[in-house]
Amino acid sequence: MKNVAILLSGRGSNFMALAGAVEEGKIPARIVLVFSDQPEAPGLAEARRRSYPAVAIPVGGRKREAYDQLILEELLKARAEIICLAGFMHILSPPLVRRFPNRILNIHPSLLPSFTGLHAQGQAVKWGVKVSGCTVHFVDEQLDHGPILLQRAVPVRDDDTEETLAARILEEEHRLYPEALRLVCEDRLRIEGRRVRTTKD
Ligand code: GRF
Repeated sequence: MKNVAILLSGRGSNFMALAGAVEEGKIPARIVLVFSDQPEAPGLAEARRRSYPAVAIPVGGRKREAYDQLILEELLKARAEIICLAGFMHILSPPLVRRFPNRILNIHPSLLPSFTGLHAQGQAVKWGVKVSGCTVHFVDEQLDHGPILLQRAVPVRDDDTEETLAARILEEEHRLYPEALRLVCEDRLRIEGRRVRTTKD
């Protein structure tokens, strides 16, 4: 059993997918903390509804490293071992990332390294790619950059808008993120440089 913390800023549909898989016993994990920088985040309300420990601390003008110290305190208090970013809109500072080497996961709605940053689905539509998708990667000190755990491709249709593509990718995200967290919690990943290999069941 691994202690997992989930950090979110918004609707929290990926949090719900992860929590659902944990609740169904598909992932050997317990969710020890749901943290948000947005007290009004719908995902946080859902966490409370499901009786998970939920904490909101707004950034409130603090410098990044001062704010991240508060995040670290919550993570340590909760004894978090694995951290899942699930639509967390605050970029973690290098000291916090270094405290959890290859222990922080993020999901990004494109096939990295294409279309980093915001509006990845809109960037894909504008660029005219025929295939996009989603990526679960370890968080390192650069944005949307660390070693890739899993990726899934999603077709881009001629009539897609940012919204329709985002909805199709999101369905895949909800399958991919629980799969990736399961591999991490089962200690089934070996990281060699940028390459992440999966060992058999
Ligand atoms: C998802 O598209 C995820 O890939 C990105 O932020 C969005 C979060 O959505 N990092 P939700 O809050 O999990 O519904």
